[in-house]
Amino acid sequence: MHRFNEEEKEILRRVFDVRGYDEDAFDPEILDQMEADEDYKELLKKHASDILASEKYNRLKTFIQHGNVTVYEHSIHVALCAIKLNRKLGVNAKERQMVRGALLHDYFLYDWHDGEAPGNIHPKLHGFYHPGIALKNATRDFSLSEREKEIIRKHMWPLTVKPPRCREAWVVCMADKYASTLETLKLKKGKIRVNYA
Ligand SMILES: [Fe+2]
Ligand SMILES: [Fe+2]
Repeated sequence: MHRFNEEEKEILRRVFDVRGYDEDAFDPEILDQMEADEDYKELLKKHASDILASEKYNRLKTFIQHGNVTVYEHSIHVALCAIKLNRKLGVNAKERQMVRGALLHDYFLYDWHDGEAPGNIHPKLHGFYHPGIALKNATRDFSLSEREKEIIRKHMWPLTVKPPRCREAWVVCMADKYASTLETLKLKKGKIRVNYA
């Protein structure tokens, strides 16, 4: 059985310990550092150059996730956080499938803030429905493995009720929450200029 060392325990505590929640422990600079990291850039290219080069995928740059973070940027953040958590915690998730699933986890292709937007069929319940919509779009546009499908389907757990069934999906589910927290804090700390216009 894998035993966590002190560094791993500290990472887990920072990500999961709500009681000990300390805004400063979530340093939003982590996102910039990961984005600038050449090794991480290479990994994204190695595992998902076809996805990143596809015209449809690049439409994610036109949709806002929150503040002025686009769905494209958010998806990159989630893939990078997943790589980091997987490596630092020694989870042993299959990196290629994990990265591809992470990049496609929010591939719902509509502006979820706009209740009238085409494709936004359940605007009030976006949280519940978008994994299924993302999965449908991703299956149509890319060829996905079962693990990649499971990542997209379960990334909103516990909203999905049924928990993830593979470690790749667990890591992305955590990475999504971790990246979203960092993005929100970055907005709060004024490190991303908020532009609601
Ligand atoms: Fe999502
Ligand atoms: Fe997400």
